[in-house]
Amino acid sequence: MRHVTLTDIYQLPFARKYLKRAGLAHAITVARNAYYFANENSVNPDLATKAALLHDIGHYTWYRNGKWDYNLYKQNDIHAIKGAERAHKMLIRLGEDPVSAKEIAVAILFHTDSYFLGTVNRNALQEVVAMADEADEEPGGNHHYKVISEQEAVSALSDLDQLVEHSLSAQEEWQKSV
Ligand SMILES: [Fe+2]
Repeated sequence: MRHVTLTDIYQLPFARKYLKRAGLAHAITVARNAYYFANENSVNPDLATKAALLHDIGHYTWYRNGKWDYNLYKQNDIHAIKGAERAHKMLIRLGEDPVSAKEIAVAILFHTDSYFLGTVNRNALQEVVAMADEADEEPGGNHHYKVISEQEAVSALSDLDQLVEHSLSAQEEWQKSV
């Protein structure tokens, strides 16, 4: 059973603010990608779509003299760390199961290795979220600037919620039958 839906998350003003700052269209596309990759890789689509939707909510806007400064961003960015913490806080506030909230937060923490030197040894859920993000990346970070209307966003999240519900009930049915 899902304790929290993508639609519930989007209702939170705190979530909406950070989703829009990092690019709502990108977040929704990555959540949709994560749904398909999760099904292909036998990963829980509920956890994957939530982590994917929230993966970039830790972004800060690195401006210098009124202009986006990529060097400042590269030097100072910790968006995966901040995002993991913010996502955890909002999921717990919404009533998420604490074990799921932790898995989602850690998947956000490991969706990129941009903030440290070394390699991440990802589990299947973390890999699905990273792949879903990479599949929507555009040169120069343009994926963060794609636009989606409020109405399209609300209906895309509700469609995705339904797909996740279907997958979870299909998985439950299958488990009962074996
Ligand atoms: Fe991203």
